[in-house]
Amino acid sequence: MTNPSLLILPGDGIGPEVMAEVRKVIDWFGANGGPVFDVSEDLVGGCAYDAHGTPLHDDTMARAQEVDAVLLGAVGGPKYDSLDFSLKPERGLLRLRKEMDLYANLRPAQCFDALADFSSLKTEVVSGLDIMIVRELTSGVYFGEPRGIIEEGNERVGVNTQRYTESEIDRVARSAFELAMRRGKRLCSMEKANVMESGVLWREVVTQVGKDYPEVELSHMYADAGAMQLTRWPKQFDVIVTDNLFGDLLSDLAAMLTGSLGMLPSASLGAPMANGRPKALYEPVHGSAPDIAGQGKANPIACILSFAMALRYSFDRGEDAARVERAVETVLADGLRTADLLGEEGKAPVSTSEMGDAIVAALAKG
Ligand code: NAD
Ligand code: IPM
Ligand code: MN
Repeated sequence: MTNPSLLILPGDGIGPEVMAEVRKVIDWFGANGGPVFDVSEDLVGGCAYDAHGTPLHDDTMARAQEVDAVLLGAVGGPKYDSLDFSLKPERGLLRLRKEMDLYANLRPAQCFDALADFSSLKTEVVSGLDIMIVRELTSGVYFGEPRGIIEEGNERVGVNTQRYTESEIDRVARSAFELAMRRGKRLCSMEKANVMESGVLWREVVTQVGKDYPEVELSHMYADAGAMQLTRWPKQFDVIVTDNLFGDLLSDLAAMLTGSLGMLPSASLGAPMANGRPKALYEPVHGSAPDIAGQGKANPIACILSFAMALRYSFDRGEDAARVERAVETVLADGLRTADLLGEEGKAPVSTSEMGDAIVAALAKG
């Protein structure tokens, strides 16, 4: 039997720094009786533009379509700000999502006990928090046509189009209901049906899909009120399903419930492949963090937890995924903190690689 294949795309900024720590975790499993992966590495984002003049080479795209899972660090950086839109690093990531048809983006926000005091919200508001945001990832205003900057009269107009078909809403709603069935059986759908027709359709279709999941308690919220409720009392939620843009905003917001954007992993899943596993790309929710890149300050936990999600969703290795999550919990309980998890406490932070080494050491202990 061949080993499962993993394509690693470290990307830009802190992407390669946090991915180096994931490599340690992958190597640890390989050397200790865990899964052995056939790992290949390639370029995406600004580094791909520097090498090939495009943020995603066609060969890389083709390879991503073939492997069992893709693991991505982060893309982007100020160096590329003035590039034409079609050449920007972010387009490489958006192309991967679109062409792999990764429509369901799972963004879990879990507050580890050791960090409950660190959130900018009161401890009782976040302690024990465990919610899952399901963000639609291949449609909506990110991809709707028409788009562009057009001339109208004597001025320019920036145009983007929010657009959802019934089938696009149906499939992401089904993913969210399935997840809710395996969790607390509560699903809250967020849109703006009060002002957007796409929101009206969204609510209708989600309600219709809900009839196939009578055990799941379905509720609806306008996304602006949802943002407020997420900060007021986030533990009222179990699974949230929402569109591409609202999901982008709400998941960054949810990150701060856990203490830091450096903590939030994600899985972007598509339709099942021939082997029954979904097409999949795993990546931290955070970006390339140009303000701290190259300084050994990045928190590698979001990327390491993204690999844990790969173990669970692509490789049927739930036990190994739980082992990684326990290792993260252990190092946090031991008081290890990268700078983003320290605030003004004055304690000395550990570096990116020290955090990775500690997680590997904790893995070894079970
Ligand atoms: P960002 O997520 O890169 O950074 C926001 C803030 O969070 C920064 O202060 C950063 O230092 C901090 N931060 C983020 N990740 C961290 C980590 N692992 N450890 C410690 N601190 C961390 O968002 P931004 O600054 O708005 O965007 C920077 C670039 O990244 C842009 O080019 C943007 O398009 C891109 N971006 C890429 C992705 C991705 O590749 N998936 C996601 C978001 C943003
Ligand atoms: C994310 C990012 C991306 C998005 C960018 C980099 C294209 O913010 O993954 O959350 O907007 O989806
Ligand atoms: Mn984002």
